[in-house]
Amino acid sequence: MKITITKKLLEKYPNANFIGIVVKNIINEKQNKELEKEKRKIEEAIRKKIKNPSEIKLVKDYNKFFNKFGKTVPIQYQLESIIKGKPIPPVSGVVEVLFMEEMNDVVMLSGHDLSSLKDEIVFDLSDGSEKYIKINQKEQAIKPEDIVLKQNNEVITSLLYGPDFSTRITEDSKDALYIFWFNEKISKKEIDKYINNLKKYIEIISVKETKIEMIYGCEEMEVGKSEKDYIVTPWEVKGDVDYNKLIQEFGTKPITNKLLKRIEKHAGKVHHFLTRKIFFSHRDMDFILDQYEKGNKFALYTGRGPSGTTHIGHLIPWIFTKWLQDKFGVELYFQIVDDEKFLVKDLTLEQTTAYGYDNALDLIALGFDPKKTKIIINTEYSKTLYRIALKIAKKITFSQARAVFGFTNESNIGIIFYTSMQGAPCFLPSVLKKKNVPVLIPAAIDQDAYWRGIARDVAPKLGYYKPAQLHCRFLPGLGGISEDGKMSSSQAHTTIWTTDTPEQVKKKIMKYAFSGGQDTIENHRKHGGNPDIDVSYQWLTFFEEDDKKLEKIYHDYKSGKLLTGELKQILIDKLNKFLANHQKKREEAKKNIEKFMLRD
Ligand code: TRP
Repeated sequence: MKITITKKLLEKYPNANFIGIVVKNIINEKQNKELEKEKRKIEEAIRKKIKNPSEIKLVKDYNKFFNKFGKTVPIQYQLESIIKGKPIPPVSGVVEVLFMEEMNDVVMLSGHDLSSLKDEIVFDLSDGSEKYIKINQKEQAIKPEDIVLKQNNEVITSLLYGPDFSTRITEDSKDALYIFWFNEKISKKEIDKYINNLKKYIEIISVKETKIEMIYGCEEMEVGKSEKDYIVTPWEVKGDVDYNKLIQEFGTKPITNKLLKRIEKHAGKVHHFLTRKIFFSHRDMDFILDQYEKGNKFALYTGRGPSGTTHIGHLIPWIFTKWLQDKFGVELYFQIVDDEKFLVKDLTLEQTTAYGYDNALDLIALGFDPKKTKIIINTEYSKTLYRIALKIAKKITFSQARAVFGFTNESNIGIIFYTSMQGAPCFLPSVLKKKNVPVLIPAAIDQDAYWRGIARDVAPKLGYYKPAQLHCRFLPGLGGISEDGKMSSSQAHTTIWTTDTPEQVKKKIMKYAFSGGQDTIENHRKHGGNPDIDVSYQWLTFFEEDDKKLEKIYHDYKSGKLLTGELKQILIDKLNKFLANHQKKREEAKKNIEKFMLRD
């Protein structure tokens, strides 16, 4: 059996978590003396320890969900009734162990007859159109934003209304699936404790043949993870990002060799960012090429959030965008979002606009064609952009935006509207050209929420093509891939700015670049280094274009022939050469900046 979680559910309840336990060959006795004894113990402990069930952390967590619907979590009432002297209700062993665990740990469980379940069950966010037959055989309409478990697209359990009739545990049940339901964050340690307690009760009613066959944590389920060890949103990137999981989570497509062949047909040798899977995912790139082959040129769109000066991580998507412009001879619209960074950072609007002009120099320095490149500064091009953004904003509800971006009651109202400002350039070429222009967005994967949640949703409603995407991964921070997911401006000492001097570059890399080398030269020569975790090597996969050279470095480092200091020096030389040229072009750009600005 497969258990999956939809992206929709995790976007709405990012901490939702479900643990499934399959138990086979149980005997569902009506009464069991041992179990009765254990029940009395649980009841006594509750009466002794709990004064006010509504104060318990887990009850509060569940009530965050239930109160939204004007309800209270049933375990709160059940605890209250035990405190008043009522027993855990007698039903039959297999169901009672579930009740016992619910009361003992204050958790919510559902129990199902395994034989009534099909191959795949899915945790989903309800849209309010579903109905199901509850365990009391009454029909129940489901509320929007309830958490539901479905099979064959039919609800079999709702967090709000409980399990259904058709999968209930009966006297004849031989195999069961127990599921723990959590809408709020829960630690691994707590989960283990709950599982062990449930196991303890199950043991009481077990016979020789009884076996706990399988425990599904969210990790084993398709999409989500219980405690994700990475976060990727437009405003936060943290942890060791699993790029393959992101493809699943965001519903994008991996860049296949077949697609590379198609690009090669038009571009000649494909860029090493593509062959090395630095750009690893896409949406609708086939459509962009179809159109291109029909003579319908696309426009490129990417951008920058001016929260400070530019570091070399920012340049990665831009370098690739420049390559696309050259190879396909297409226009680039480059958005500088001084509005967004003003709204989300502790910066004045004057500062973010000034950073915007400064950042534009780094873009221009990369050699974009002034005739084909149009830079937009949001607060200065608002006459045109605002009108498009309005048309987008009218078609997106707050609840939709909240689900994708995770807005809360504390989010300022500016950032909520801003999402449509970032969507607007997807349609700007069509507006300016007065005809439908396909748009391709090369950008880091953290920006995806704007395209899947906003632009692609409204495009058909406004009569435009859905914008296509090419997604890249992040340049890892100098301090190592697992320390921070991408190079971050907030860690100045491990950041290489485009204006750093050769000495600064050397010092930062020598001192901070995480090394996969051995502790002594002797050991390194003997055992070799590990290029796969070595940040200097990782950076060379971005900056050393020559595949042969890179391969040699890889093998020499692995064999111990190349020492860490030597590897670092290769990177330092490479970067300093690049930066010397970049800084020269950056100076020249100061004279030309206005040639690139789109004005209205
Ligand atoms: N929000 C992006 C940032 O903070 C800037 C941006 C605006 C952008 N439009 C874009 C990035 C389009 C990529 C593509 O960096």
